[in-house]
Amino acid sequence: MKLRSAKWFGSKDRDGFIHRSWMKNQGRPDHLFDGRPVIGICNTWSELTPCNSHFRVIADHVKRGVYEAGGFPLEFPVMSMGETLMRPTAMLFRNLVSMDVEESIRANPIDAVVLLAGCDKTTPALLMGAASCDIPAIMISGGPMLNGKFQGRDIGSGTDVWRFSEEVRAGLMSECDFLEAESCMNRSAGHCMTMGTASTMASVVEALGIGLPTNAAIPAVDARRYALAHMAGQRIVEMVNEDLQMSKILTKKAFENAIRVVGAIGGSTNAVIHLLAIAARVGVDLTLDDWDRLGRGVPCLVNLMPSGKYLMEDFYYAGGLPAVIEDLGDLIHRDALTVNGKTIGENVAGARCYNREVIKHRAEPLTKEGGIAVLRGNLCPNGAVLKPSAATPELMKHRGRAVVFETIEDFHARVDDPNLDIDESCVMVLKNCGPKGYPGMPEVGNMPLPQKILKRGITDMVRISDARMSGTAYGTVALHISPEAAAGGVLALVQNGDEIELDVEERRLQLAVDDAELSRRRSEWKPPTPPADRGYYKLYYEHVMQADRGADLDFLVGGSGVQVTRESH
Ligand code: FES
Repeated sequence: MKLRSAKWFGSKDRDGFIHRSWMKNQGRPDHLFDGRPVIGICNTWSELTPCNSHFRVIADHVKRGVYEAGGFPLEFPVMSMGETLMRPTAMLFRNLVSMDVEESIRANPIDAVVLLAGCDKTTPALLMGAASCDIPAIMISGGPMLNGKFQGRDIGSGTDVWRFSEEVRAGLMSECDFLEAESCMNRSAGHCMTMGTASTMASVVEALGIGLPTNAAIPAVDARRYALAHMAGQRIVEMVNEDLQMSKILTKKAFENAIRVVGAIGGSTNAVIHLLAIAARVGVDLTLDDWDRLGRGVPCLVNLMPSGKYLMEDFYYAGGLPAVIEDLGDLIHRDALTVNGKTIGENVAGARCYNREVIKHRAEPLTKEGGIAVLRGNLCPNGAVLKPSAATPELMKHRGRAVVFETIEDFHARVDDPNLDIDESCVMVLKNCGPKGYPGMPEVGNMPLPQKILKRGITDMVRISDARMSGTAYGTVALHISPEAAAGGVLALVQNGDEIELDVEERRLQLAVDDAELSRRRSEWKPPTPPADRGYYKLYYEHVMQADRGADLDFLVGGSGVQVTRESH
């Protein structure tokens, strides 16, 4: 089989000279250019992305495997996205990074790629970009951090930040203890060790079959994570010879498996947006309705924060994702192909659970409904999502008076005002935090409750917005309202005092205001000013699609393969 890389390295003419000679300045001997598969290692390492800061070491282990199998590994960087530092939100840049990945692969002599991702958005960005090239690919996740340890107990990244900060505001925790927790939470290499977005997406990678078995849960500092990277390096060379491109793995069945796995692990609502966007890159028809249909009746089995109690380290020791997939039995398409050449059913056959506290049995789940509920109604004609396993059962059917915050700044300015007209029966409404509105659709949908309500010991209220929420967060929160307020959705028209009805069982989110009044309000509504008149912000604002389409840029849907016919000189 003639490899793509041979077009760069295979000729004896001037161009071949140029392509090989400059690479030799790194000490690469002649035989590396003899026609062996060239494996790109797409690295999101960055000191600004703490969750991915160990990736140079992972890349070295991938290289060992590639060399061992007779390939030629070449590591290359792409823009990284650290969830905790990037403003206004890392999500604004997911699509930009996917373009970086796609064009880096296509422009270079790469026959297949190993994708190294960890922190939330790095996983979907790399999958989206590589999928639009459709070459053989394996993803290696960076792995979760070790459990946080604070004052004799385990604490989870993200989840306990939200909890502690509410406790400080309610006067239940001292500032001194709060600051001590800072050093105790994130104490090793790796990504958030709760079942937040990073752990959810690492599980999705395994469930899609685009990562090797056990990819989801091995801690970042466990030697087995590095052994897995080594094996990925070996396997990717074989995949070149088998011509096993991503589109042969990322089938509709694979996405359906991933959706059910997200339900069973109590996974992040962010997986909804990311999977919709990835599917659209490989031409798989996936919609919000698939999420609701497939998620119904999937029990949440994994007892991890934020839905439950434990952390990823415990999950791995309890058997990890193979044990969950095996338990899901007929809910999984067992014949879906994975990157190791076996079906997912073959991969998990015989997988055992070693701790039923951490991975519950299907007959006695953590919660009966683990899937993501997709809501409809006049407030969200194109959909909104809610995570039942992280919500309060008594609030899943609720009617209340709207207390409206027009922007996040408005929210911060007024939420703790003692004169704010609000009680726990109200519905908190946050506008202008969707893809266009912020811009970038940040994780602010889990608005903190007003201090005066927290002080009364109340910990949850119905909250709705066009924002996302962190996968580590919890609460009865309807998110991703589509169309968003900034795009002229009905959300933009909600006023203080309107009645809002949430009924998760009926999948309904309705604003109790008649159409005539809504038309009157619409005639007075003015669209917001675009966030910028140049640069990426402008490109993003003009082309981003709504949450129900995965919030990708409209011109990035689909793929272009890897053909480039023109030489560089
Ligand atoms: Fe990187 Fe949570 S901040 S995974």
